[in-house]
Amino acid sequence: MRIWELEFENYRNLYPGCLRPEEGVNVIWGSNAQGKTNLLEAIWLFTGGHSFRGSRDADLVRLGEEAGCACLSLSFSGGGRQQKAEIKIQNGRRAATLNGIGKKTASSLVGAFCAVVFSPEHLSLVKDGPSERRAFLDSAICQIRPSYAGLLNHYSRALQQRNSLLKDIPRHRELLDTLEIWDERLAGFGAAVMEERARYVEKLRPEAAEIYLGISRQKENLDLSYQMTAAPQEAKPGEYRQAILETLRRSRREDLGAGFTTSGPHRDDLMLTINGAAARVFGSQGQQRSVVLALKLAEASVLEEIIGEPPVVLLDDVMSELDTGRQEYLLNHLQGRQIFITCCDPGNVRLLEQGGIFRVQEGMLLEGAGASV
Ligand SMILES: Nc1ncnc2c1ncn2[C@@H]1O[C@H](COP(=O)(O)OP(=O)(O)OP(=O)(O)O)[C@@H](O)[C@H]1O
Ligand SMILES: [Mg+2]
Repeated sequence: MRIWELEFENYRNLYPGCLRPEEGVNVIWGSNAQGKTNLLEAIWLFTGGHSFRGSRDADLVRLGEEAGCACLSLSFSGGGRQQKAEIKIQNGRRAATLNGIGKKTASSLVGAFCAVVFSPEHLSLVKDGPSERRAFLDSAICQIRPSYAGLLNHYSRALQQRNSLLKDIPRHRELLDTLEIWDERLAGFGAAVMEERARYVEKLRPEAAEIYLGISRQKENLDLSYQMTAAPQEAKPGEYRQAILETLRRSRREDLGAGFTTSGPHRDDLMLTINGAAARVFGSQGQQRSVVLALKLAEASVLEEIIGEPPVVLLDDVMSELDTGRQEYLLNHLQGRQIFITCCDPGNVRLLEQGGIFRVQEGMLLEGAGASV
């Protein structure tokens, strides 16, 4: 996937303009609060997703122009052809066209333009609890297998039903018999969820390990493993369903006491270790950042295998806390993809051997002589 041109008007703090990036690495630099992240976010919207900063659509329109429309247009090659997508945001709504044809919703753009994004908020992937890591796995799997979203939905509905039953049983003992039905349902959907996640982690694992070795300049090893709460770690996918059923039966008393289901894929985790030690507990700032980066780049590699071309990589503010060796790796050793990296420090720009340099200053996008350090 390769972006040829991004045009923007009335978008956030950016002045109407146009970004024409290079094939490989593109560095977008500038001081704080100039509009660098805004620019990456504009690209990201073409994946069909919401702002990676969690902003509402209405917030994307330039302040003071709320009655007007924020317009974005992206020319890119993907799927073996030249394509053009447009997004218009007005009255808090997003509309999109792809190759001149109107889409029902902006999220219908999913699949036409593919990207992965790293933003500092994603550090929660290592620092926070298991739910962040489950969400990472789930959204990555949804990108490569859209039917997975439906499966997750079935699982979480069955879980809700079982949980409310667990709360009701102490007052209505006669409901105890129905628990068995929900155990069966939960085990069926749960096993399918676990199987998808375990398979995805096995794909991600070697890619992430190789990238992490590169980032750490061959000094450190990253390992990932999917930690299951309702099946033994060594269980095979064919055994998951039975294992969940047994766990649910075994922990029934505990579940009734707690009023919710204490084990299952909704409690699982993705274990991340650096040289054998848990990254969450023992990782330094730079190591934790490198882990998230390796996961995101590995996600891009897996996606590339499935869609047959590399997705665009958006790295927002990834350079801070990384030493020069790690920065240099990111700028010069990730070939074969179009990458956008934002940073504040012009020193990062000097490390770039080949690629595009852009500067954002008070919402103005500068290139050529205006962007040089
Ligand atoms: N809808 C909007 N209209 C006008 N300005 C906006 C809008 N939304 C955000 N801004 C402003 O855009 C400015 C730039 O934001 P952005 O997050 O892109 O900065 P940045 O260059 O990435 O900075 P940093 O290096 O601190 O991450 C901010 O000052 C913000 O207040
Ligand atoms: Mg920023």
